[in-house]
Amino acid sequence: MIKTKIFLDGANLDDVELLAKSEIISGFTSNPTLMTKSGIENYSEFIRKFLSLSDNKPVSFEVVSDTFGEMEREAEKIISHADNIYVKIPITNTKGESSLELIRKLLDRNFKVNVTAILSQSQLNNLINILQPKDDVFISYFAGRVADTGIDPIPVMTDLQKKINLKQLEKSQILWASPREVFNIYQASSLGIDIITVTKNLIDKLSLENKDLDQYSIETVKMFFQDAQKNNLKI
Ligand code: E4P
Repeated sequence: MIKTKIFLDGANLDDVELLAKSEIISGFTSNPTLMTKSGIENYSEFIRKFLSLSDNKPVSFEVVSDTFGEMEREAEKIISHADNIYVKIPITNTKGESSLELIRKLLDRNFKVNVTAILSQSQLNNLINILQPKDDVFISYFAGRVADTGIDPIPVMTDLQKKINLKQLEKSQILWASPREVFNIYQASSLGIDIITVTKNLIDKLSLENKDLDQYSIETVKMFFQDAQKNNLKI
């Protein structure tokens, strides 16, 4: 049984509607890149529609500006829509300036914050340093992007779990972002990671759990065979 909470990562409102009532899905994340891919032009309207479909589960919406004053204003606006919103603040702006001061400010105002785009160990250490037990925060560690660079993200996450326990950050949750394959969901569960956010194509693959591998092999060979026929491939 998968113990990690699975969030849907996306901006396609049909997918949100389809999965919101499903027990598999405990919440949602989105980001400006996914929104752009889905052709979203009006952010406020997107938030309103998303919330009406989200079955009151936690939803993260990201700020889109690059100065901390503007980000704070956007965070206020985003949060004003509903109580189940976590406002996504990137750990740095595009100039590499740390967002920690703004994050601390928002947490002190009792905002729920999803700190996003965390990749480096120093970003994690600095974030842990400013967090307090009362803070309701998702620590979005982009494990897949880290793995893309050849570094194993798992020891980093187990170390992070220890640090969170040591500081008794009871309301801080580790969020495994940018998973690359459905197996990451099983890994997150066996490691005791709180949340993993997953695109719809990986969620669909959960239906393969415990599938007979000989049968799966036959289906794979059938696929090769049929595609070769379709394309009239001859040797
Ligand atoms: C998380 O909240 C992000 O939206 C997402 O996991 C990023 O995934 P990517 O690194 O594959 O773009």
